[in-house]
Amino acid sequence: MSEGVQTSPAFTPRVFSGIQPSGGLTLGNYLGAMKRFVEMQGVGYETIYCMVDMHAITVWQDPDALRRQTRELAAGYIASGIDPDKSILFNQSQVAEHAQLAWIFNCVARMGWMKRMTQWKDKAGKNQENASLGLFAYPALMAADILVYHATHVPVGEDQKQHLELTRDIATKFNHDFKTDFFPITEPVIEGAATRVMSLRDGSKKMSKSDPSDASRINMTDDADAIAQKIRKAKTDPDGLPSEAKGLEDRPEARNLVNIYAALADQSVESVLSEMGGKQFSEFKPLLSELAVEKLSPISSEMARLMQSPDEIDAILAKGAGRAREIAAPILKKTYEIVGMVG
Ligand code: TYM
Repeated sequence: MSEGVQTSPAFTPRVFSGIQPSGGLTLGNYLGAMKRFVEMQGVGYETIYCMVDMHAITVWQDPDALRRQTRELAAGYIASGIDPDKSILFNQSQVAEHAQLAWIFNCVARMGWMKRMTQWKDKAGKNQENASLGLFAYPALMAADILVYHATHVPVGEDQKQHLELTRDIATKFNHDFKTDFFPITEPVIEGAATRVMSLRDGSKKMSKSDPSDASRINMTDDADAIAQKIRKAKTDPDGLPSEAKGLEDRPEARNLVNIYAALADQSVESVLSEMGGKQFSEFKPLLSELAVEKLSPISSEMARLMQSPDEIDAILAKGAGRAREIAAPILKKTYEIVGMVG
């Protein structure tokens, strides 16, 4: 064990999570991530939320679009209820410690671990030879994002589960190799009715900003008419709503709309079905539209308002980056000591 290394740190309850500024925010991002980030704010955790611009550039991003999307995502965080005084809000590239720790983790993680990542396989597709090296190493940077703050809890949607398991594997291997317990074994927080919001056009596909069909998703910038139209056209089946969750088995589209309703209304699926059981989709869809517009419109108008003041957004992010660095710098310094880097 290295000299002077503290081996039994008491970990502060600390939440970290991030979203890529690689396109517009969807209802999936909001319900699966952002809304839950807000719920974890001010309830006994330190909360750190990030726009992961370095992850975004693992696939091509037009520089002007990246700048706009980063500010728009920051506006989305704030409009959804992230308070920059209560949480640390910043963009990843401005805290160099993420990239520095990621290098160490590139040397801890194994090629085989990375090759098993389903996101790598999906995003690289058939032409892996032509994918960026950054896309392959993506999960090691994600582990660094989390562990450079010794974060103990990470709220995410279900699609990030495998990456969080890898984060735990990296922390475990680092601790084992260097005979320390310096890094926490982070807990994924994948909870609620909307951890996997599905496409409105195909209940077997995740709602995603990269889906070529705009009708497949609700964007956080959609107006009331667009939201209502997309919900009206959402794929369903001919049956009405069941009165128990069991009745949604094998009905992915119906289940998705009920899950969305439950998450927006802060109700359980069971309580939604006990109220709505027996209704046809022709009755349920207008109720869902009304609820979605009621919850999302104030967010999109606040986002639009904030986007009028990019300087204000940049000032918030600069301040957040400074606060983030104060936590990250000593953790990185200690990591270097443990690894044996002289400095
Ligand atoms: P990203 O940018 O793809 O998505 C951001 C968050 O939104 C969630 N999400 C969804 N949840 C439910 N239903 C959906 N259809 C849906 N689509 C997206 C994601 O699960 C995620 O929580 N690798 C991450 C970003 C990241 C990160 C991190 C996350 C980088 N470093 C450290 C946590 C901790 C990503 O690409 O998320």
